[in-house]
Amino acid sequence: MPLSVRHLLGIKSLLRSDIELIFKTADEFKKVINRPIKKVPSLRDITIANVFFENSTRTKLSFELAEKRLSADVINFAASNSSVKKGETLLDTVHNILAMKVDMIVMRHSSPGASHFLSLHTPAIIVNAGDGTHEHPTQALLDCYSIREKLGSVEGKKVAIIGDISHSRVALSNIFALQKLGAEVMLCAPPTLLPPFIEQLNVKISHSIEETLRWCDVANMLRIQLERQKTANIPSLREYALYFGLNSRLLERIGKEIIVMHPGPINRGVEIESAVADSPQAIILDQVENGVAIRMAVLYLLAAQNA
Ligand code: NCD
Repeated sequence: MPLSVRHLLGIKSLLRSDIELIFKTADEFKKVINRPIKKVPSLRDITIANVFFENSTRTKLSFELAEKRLSADVINFAASNSSVKKGETLLDTVHNILAMKVDMIVMRHSSPGASHFLSLHTPAIIVNAGDGTHEHPTQALLDCYSIREKLGSVEGKKVAIIGDISHSRVALSNIFALQKLGAEVMLCAPPTLLPPFIEQLNVKISHSIEETLRWCDVANMLRIQLERQKTANIPSLREYALYFGLNSRLLERIGKEIIVMHPGPINRGVEIESAVADSPQAIILDQVENGVAIRMAVLYLLAAQNA
Protein backbone atom coordinates (compact mmCIF):
# COMPACT_ATOMS: atom_id res chain seq x y z
CA MET A 1 0.00 0.00 0.00
CA PRO A 2 1.77 3.20 -1.13
CA LEU A 3 1.37 6.76 0.19
CA SER A 4 -1.42 8.80 -1.44
CA VAL A 5 1.01 11.68 -2.21
CA ARG A 6 4.13 12.09 -4.34
CA HIS A 7 5.67 14.79 -2.13
CA LEU A 8 5.41 15.55 1.59
CA LEU A 9 4.30 19.18 1.50
CA GLY A 10 2.07 19.24 4.56
CA ILE A 11 -0.10 17.14 6.84
CA LYS A 12 -3.26 18.70 5.41
CA SER A 13 -2.88 16.72 2.19
CA LEU A 14 -2.24 13.35 3.93
CA LEU A 15 -4.81 10.65 4.68
CA ARG A 16 -5.00 8.97 8.06
CA SER A 17 -3.82 5.78 6.33
CA ASP A 18 -0.69 7.64 5.09
CA ILE A 19 0.18 8.64 8.65
CA GLU A 20 -0.41 5.10 9.90
CA LEU A 21 1.81 3.68 7.14
CA ILE A 22 4.57 6.16 8.06
CA PHE A 23 4.28 5.10 11.74
CA LYS A 24 4.43 1.38 10.91
CA THR A 25 7.48 1.96 8.72
CA ALA A 26 9.09 4.14 11.43
CA ASP A 27 8.60 1.29 13.96
CA GLU A 28 10.90 -0.85 11.80
CA PHE A 29 13.46 1.92 11.31
CA LYS A 30 13.48 2.64 15.04
CA LYS A 31 14.64 -0.94 15.58
CA VAL A 32 17.36 -0.39 12.95
CA ILE A 33 18.75 2.78 14.55
CA ASN A 34 18.96 1.05 17.92
CA ARG A 35 21.08 -1.80 16.54
CA PRO A 36 24.89 -1.74 16.67
CA ILE A 37 24.85 -1.48 12.85
CA LYS A 38 22.49 1.42 12.27
CA LYS A 39 22.48 1.47 8.50
CA VAL A 40 20.36 -0.15 5.77
CA PRO A 41 20.98 0.01 1.99
CA SER A 42 17.41 1.08 1.07
CA LEU A 43 18.27 4.42 -0.65
CA ARG A 44 21.67 3.44 -2.03
CA ASP A 45 20.98 4.86 -5.51
CA ILE A 46 19.23 8.03 -4.37
CA THR A 47 20.79 11.47 -4.04
CA ILE A 48 19.16 13.92 -1.63
CA ALA A 49 19.84 17.65 -1.28
CA ASN A 50 19.06 19.35 2.02
CA VAL A 51 18.29 22.93 1.07
CA PHE A 52 17.96 25.16 4.11
CA PHE A 53 17.11 28.84 3.68
CA GLU A 54 16.44 29.20 7.42
CA ASN A 55 18.33 28.25 10.58
CA SER A 56 17.92 24.74 11.93
CA THR A 57 19.66 22.41 14.35
CA ARG A 58 17.44 19.38 15.01
CA THR A 59 15.56 19.18 11.72
CA LYS A 60 18.64 19.48 9.53
CA LEU A 61 20.76 17.03 11.53
CA SER A 62 17.83 14.64 11.82
CA PHE A 63 17.16 14.61 8.06
CA GLU A 64 20.85 14.22 7.30
CA LEU A 65 21.21 11.34 9.72
CA ALA A 66 18.04 9.68 8.39
CA GLU A 67 19.41 9.94 4.83
CA LYS A 68 22.77 8.51 5.82
CA ARG A 69 21.19 5.65 7.80
CA LEU A 70 19.34 4.78 4.55
CA SER A 71 22.63 4.92 2.57
CA ALA A 72 21.54 7.84 0.35
CA ASP A 73 24.10 10.24 -1.10
CA VAL A 74 23.65 13.58 0.63
CA ILE A 75 24.52 17.14 -0.26
CA ASN A 76 23.85 20.11 2.00
CA PHE A 77 23.04 23.64 1.05
CA ALA A 78 22.72 26.53 3.49
CA ALA A 79 21.45 29.77 1.99
CA SER A 80 23.55 31.83 4.38
CA ASN A 81 26.80 30.88 2.60
CA SER A 82 25.46 30.41 -0.94
CA SER A 83 24.89 32.41 -4.14
CA VAL A 84 21.39 33.29 -2.89
CA LYS A 85 23.30 36.13 -1.26
CA LYS A 86 24.35 37.18 -4.80
CA GLY A 87 20.74 37.47 -5.98
CA GLU A 88 19.99 33.98 -7.39
CA THR A 89 16.30 33.00 -7.28
CA LEU A 90 14.93 29.95 -5.47
CA LEU A 91 14.04 28.24 -8.75
CA ASP A 92 17.45 28.93 -10.34
CA THR A 93 19.20 27.64 -7.24
CA VAL A 94 17.15 24.46 -7.26
CA HIS A 95 17.48 23.88 -11.03
CA ASN A 96 21.24 24.08 -10.64
CA ILE A 97 21.12 21.54 -7.82
CA LEU A 98 18.91 19.26 -9.93
CA ALA A 99 21.27 19.53 -12.93
CA MET A 100 23.72 17.64 -10.73
CA LYS A 101 21.21 14.72 -10.78
CA VAL A 102 19.52 15.05 -7.42
CA ASP A 103 16.40 12.92 -6.82
CA MET A 104 14.92 14.46 -3.69
CA ILE A 105 14.95 17.88 -2.09
CA VAL A 106 14.36 18.48 1.60
CA MET A 107 13.70 22.19 1.94
CA ARG A 108 13.23 24.69 4.73
CA HIS A 109 12.20 28.16 3.62
CA SER A 110 10.81 31.28 5.26
CA SER A 111 7.96 31.66 2.74
CA PRO A 112 4.73 29.72 3.30
CA GLY A 113 4.07 27.65 0.18
CA ALA A 114 7.72 27.55 -0.99
CA SER A 115 7.85 23.74 -1.11
CA HIS A 116 4.48 23.57 -2.89
CA PHE A 117 5.83 26.04 -5.47
CA LEU A 118 8.92 23.89 -5.96
CA SER A 119 6.84 20.74 -6.42
CA LEU A 120 5.00 22.41 -9.32
CA HIS A 121 8.14 23.56 -11.11
CA THR A 122 10.70 20.79 -10.65
CA PRO A 123 10.66 17.05 -11.29
CA ALA A 124 12.27 16.17 -7.93
CA ILE A 125 10.45 14.71 -4.93
CA ILE A 126 9.99 17.50 -2.38
CA VAL A 127 9.91 17.15 1.39
CA ASN A 128 8.87 20.23 3.34
CA ALA A 129 11.14 20.74 6.34
CA GLY A 130 9.21 23.87 7.39
CA ASP A 131 7.77 26.63 5.20
CA GLY A 132 7.49 29.90 7.10
CA THR A 133 4.53 29.94 9.49
CA HIS A 134 2.65 27.34 7.41
CA GLU A 135 3.52 23.65 7.93
CA HIS A 136 6.27 21.45 9.39
CA PRO A 137 4.92 18.00 8.56
CA THR A 138 7.75 15.78 9.82
CA GLN A 139 7.66 17.57 13.19
CA ALA A 140 3.94 16.82 13.58
CA LEU A 141 4.51 13.21 12.52
CA LEU A 142 7.26 12.71 15.09
CA ASP A 143 5.16 14.46 17.76
CA CYS A 144 2.16 12.19 17.16
CA TYR A 145 4.43 9.15 16.90
CA SER A 146 5.91 10.05 20.32
CA ILE A 147 2.40 10.38 21.83
CA ARG A 148 1.46 7.00 20.35
CA GLU A 149 4.64 5.48 21.80
CA LYS A 150 4.00 6.93 25.26
CA LEU A 151 0.21 6.48 25.51
CA GLY A 152 -0.41 3.55 23.17
CA SER A 153 -2.43 5.60 20.66
CA VAL A 154 -3.35 9.14 19.65
CA GLU A 155 -7.06 8.36 19.19
CA GLY A 156 -9.21 9.92 21.92
CA LYS A 157 -6.32 11.73 23.62
CA LYS A 158 -6.58 15.36 24.72
CA VAL A 159 -3.64 17.35 23.43
CA ALA A 160 -2.95 20.99 24.27
CA ILE A 161 -0.71 23.20 22.18
CA ILE A 162 0.45 26.08 24.34
CA GLY A 163 2.37 29.15 23.17
CA ASP A 164 2.88 31.22 20.05
CA ILE A 165 0.28 29.62 17.78
CA SER A 166 0.20 32.54 15.32
CA HIS A 167 3.80 32.25 14.22
CA SER A 168 4.23 28.49 14.52
CA ARG A 169 4.23 26.00 11.66
CA VAL A 170 4.50 23.25 14.27
CA ALA A 171 1.06 24.21 15.63
CA LEU A 172 -0.78 24.00 12.30
CA SER A 173 0.80 20.69 11.26
CA ASN A 174 0.10 19.26 14.72
CA ILE A 175 -3.56 20.33 14.62
CA PHE A 176 -4.04 18.53 11.28
CA ALA A 177 -2.15 15.39 12.34
CA LEU A 178 -3.78 15.08 15.77
CA GLN A 179 -7.27 15.52 14.34
CA LYS A 180 -6.68 13.02 11.53
CA LEU A 181 -5.61 10.50 14.18
CA GLY A 182 -8.68 11.17 16.33
CA ALA A 183 -7.28 13.36 19.13
CA GLU A 184 -8.99 16.42 20.59
CA VAL A 185 -6.99 19.65 20.41
CA MET A 186 -6.98 22.71 22.67
CA LEU A 187 -4.91 25.80 21.88
CA CYS A 188 -3.76 28.01 24.75
CA ALA A 189 -2.22 31.43 24.16
CA PRO A 190 -2.80 35.11 24.79
CA PRO A 191 -5.34 36.41 22.21
CA THR A 192 -2.55 38.31 20.45
CA LEU A 193 -0.72 35.04 19.67
CA LEU A 194 -3.72 33.25 18.15
CA PRO A 195 -4.47 33.70 14.44
CA PRO A 196 -7.94 35.02 13.50
CA PHE A 197 -10.56 32.36 12.62
CA ILE A 198 -8.44 29.54 14.13
CA GLU A 199 -11.57 28.19 15.91
CA GLN A 200 -12.86 27.22 12.45
CA LEU A 201 -10.35 24.34 12.58
CA ASN A 202 -12.55 22.74 15.21
CA VAL A 203 -10.15 23.30 18.11
CA LYS A 204 -10.90 24.39 21.68
CA ILE A 205 -9.41 27.74 22.70
CA SER A 206 -8.27 28.79 26.16
CA HIS A 207 -6.41 31.77 27.55
CA SER A 208 -5.71 30.05 30.87
CA ILE A 209 -2.81 27.60 31.16
CA GLU A 210 -4.29 26.18 34.37
CA GLU A 211 -7.63 25.40 32.69
CA THR A 212 -5.74 23.88 29.74
CA LEU A 213 -3.57 21.66 31.92
CA ARG A 214 -6.58 20.43 33.90
CA TRP A 215 -8.14 19.34 30.57
CA CYS A 216 -5.22 17.75 28.71
CA ASP A 217 -3.26 14.47 28.69
CA VAL A 218 -0.40 16.00 26.73
CA ALA A 219 0.97 19.57 26.72
CA ASN A 220 3.04 20.58 23.69
CA MET A 221 4.88 23.79 24.57
CA LEU A 222 5.89 26.22 21.81
CA ARG A 223 8.58 28.86 21.74
CA ILE A 224 7.71 32.55 21.30
CA GLN A 225 8.94 33.11 17.73
CA LEU A 226 10.30 36.62 18.23
CA GLU A 227 12.15 36.50 14.89
CA ARG A 228 8.81 36.34 13.05
CA GLN A 229 7.02 39.04 15.04
CA LYS A 230 6.97 42.45 13.44
CA THR A 231 5.03 44.04 16.30
CA ALA A 232 5.06 43.47 20.04
CA ASN A 233 2.42 40.84 20.80
CA ILE A 234 3.23 40.45 24.49
CA PRO A 235 4.29 43.09 27.02
CA SER A 236 7.48 41.20 27.94
CA LEU A 237 8.88 37.67 28.05
CA ARG A 238 8.84 37.91 31.86
CA GLU A 239 5.12 38.58 31.89
CA TYR A 240 4.50 35.83 29.33
CA ALA A 241 6.42 33.34 31.48
CA LEU A 242 4.35 34.36 34.50
CA TYR A 243 0.97 33.78 32.80
CA PHE A 244 1.68 31.13 30.14
CA GLY A 245 4.92 29.42 31.21
CA LEU A 246 4.83 25.80 32.33
CA ASN A 247 6.37 25.39 35.79
CA SER A 248 6.50 22.68 38.43
CA ARG A 249 4.35 24.66 40.88
CA LEU A 250 1.51 24.64 38.38
CA LEU A 251 1.93 20.94 37.65
CA GLU A 252 1.97 20.09 41.36
CA ARG A 253 -1.19 22.11 41.94
CA ILE A 254 -2.98 20.26 39.16
CA GLY A 255 -1.67 16.99 40.52
CA LYS A 256 -2.14 14.76 37.50
CA GLU A 257 0.29 13.05 35.16
CA ILE A 258 0.68 15.20 32.02
CA ILE A 259 3.14 14.41 29.26
CA VAL A 260 5.22 17.43 28.35
CA MET A 261 6.50 17.95 24.81
CA HIS A 262 8.48 20.65 23.01
CA PRO A 263 9.71 20.73 19.39
CA GLY A 264 12.83 22.68 20.41
CA PRO A 265 14.66 24.98 20.56
CA ILE A 266 13.64 25.54 24.19
CA ASN A 267 13.77 28.95 25.78
CA ARG A 268 14.31 27.88 29.38
CA GLY A 269 12.48 30.06 31.85
CA VAL A 270 10.10 31.47 29.23
CA GLU A 271 7.59 28.88 27.92
CA ILE A 272 9.01 26.11 30.10
CA GLU A 273 10.87 26.04 33.41
CA SER A 274 14.10 24.00 33.47
CA ALA A 275 12.78 21.74 36.25
CA VAL A 276 9.89 20.70 33.97
CA ALA A 277 11.93 20.41 30.77
CA ASP A 278 14.38 18.09 32.52
CA SER A 279 11.76 16.07 34.44
CA PRO A 280 10.78 12.45 33.63
CA GLN A 281 7.37 13.57 32.37
CA ALA A 282 9.05 15.55 29.54
CA ILE A 283 9.61 13.45 26.41
CA ILE A 284 11.52 16.14 24.53
CA LEU A 285 14.56 13.98 23.76
CA ASP A 286 12.36 11.00 22.82
CA GLN A 287 10.81 13.30 20.22
CA VAL A 288 14.29 13.99 18.83
CA GLU A 289 15.14 10.28 18.73
CA ASN A 290 11.85 9.45 17.01
CA GLY A 291 12.45 12.22 14.48
CA VAL A 292 15.20 10.22 12.80
CA ALA A 293 13.01 7.09 12.45
CA ILE A 294 10.06 9.15 11.17
CA ARG A 295 12.21 10.93 8.57
CA MET A 296 13.72 7.61 7.46
CA ALA A 297 10.18 6.31 6.96
CA VAL A 298 9.06 9.38 4.99
CA LEU A 299 12.11 9.37 2.70
CA TYR A 300 11.93 5.62 2.17
CA LEU A 301 8.20 5.58 1.34
CA LEU A 302 8.43 8.58 -1.02
CA ALA A 303 11.45 7.15 -2.82
CA ALA A 304 9.86 3.69 -3.09
CA GLN A 305 6.69 4.92 -4.71
CA ASN A 306 8.48 7.22 -7.12
CA ALA A 307 10.89 4.49 -8.20
C1 NCD B 1 10.64 24.46 15.13
C2 NCD B 1 10.73 25.11 13.77
O1 NCD B 1 11.79 25.51 13.30
O2 NCD B 1 9.67 25.20 13.18
N1 NCD B 1 11.75 23.73 15.49
C3 NCD B 1 11.98 22.50 14.94
O3 NCD B 1 11.99 22.34 13.75
N2 NCD B 1 12.17 21.48 15.79
C4 NCD B 1 10.09 25.32 16.18
C5 NCD B 1 10.77 26.59 16.55
O4 NCD B 1 11.62 27.12 15.86
O5 NCD B 1 10.39 27.12 17.60
